[in-house]
Amino acid sequence: MMNLTLKIWRQASSNAQGKMVDYKVSDIDGDMSFLEMIDILNEQLIAKGEDPVTFDHDCREGICGACSMHINGEPHGPEGATTTCQLHMRKFKDGDTITIEPWRAKAFPVIKDLMVDRAAFDRIIQAGGYVSTNTSGNTLDANAIPVEKKNADMAFNAATCIGCGACVAACKNASAMLFVSAKVAQLSLLPQGQVEAKDRVRNMVNQMDLEGFGHCTNTGACSAECPKEISLDNIARMNREYLSASITAED
Ligand code: SF4
Ligand code: FES
Repeated sequence: MMNLTLKIWRQASSNAQGKMVDYKVSDIDGDMSFLEMIDILNEQLIAKGEDPVTFDHDCREGICGACSMHINGEPHGPEGATTTCQLHMRKFKDGDTITIEPWRAKAFPVIKDLMVDRAAFDRIIQAGGYVSTNTSGNTLDANAIPVEKKNADMAFNAATCIGCGACVAACKNASAMLFVSAKVAQLSLLPQGQVEAKDRVRNMVNQMDLEGFGHCTNTGACSAECPKEISLDNIARMNREYLSASITAED
């Protein structure tokens, strides 16, 4: 069992000024998840009539990307390839002080405490992260279309991106290139995604720029902190796709 000091960013609303506040939690079991530890803190705060700490969470099994926060300065905390909800308290020691902060990026404004607005990612997907299909007539079954094994594997790996935003939070420029390149690759590597490939890459990259994300300077911090270990190869491939789509653009 552990006794811990938590330093947590508290901010009442987007426009309010935030500050770090210290809390104590005791009898924390190493088998608890990081979010369960915050649940315990929140129960204590509610029992005292105080405002609980707001944080995003949903699946608690590493697949939705909601549980975004900096833990001791690292997106999703100290364990590689692990989301905050899958991080266990056994990674920490009795007596530790843990700092917990929201993502810091202009394009992800704080809503409250640890919760940020990641709607910019949704708008990037809306700009092109889909495949249009004609469902009338003799549409070929998707699984009847042959896909080269290498491309199928790369598309599958790209599709494991959960849209958490750790890549943006880890990047000193707050660039969203890793996320966008994964979402481009998961479609453009497959035959079904090639029909709209040029418009897709141009529209998604243009939307990314409109949202205020920074430029990529190839530091690789995004991939190093990504809980799904999305490869930097996706960025290189998207840059090639974007250039090719731009020089052959009709408009
Ligand atoms: S690329 Fe990785 S860090 Fe970025 S949103 Fe996807 S899963 Fe999260
Ligand atoms: S709560 Fe869904 S990935 Fe953590």
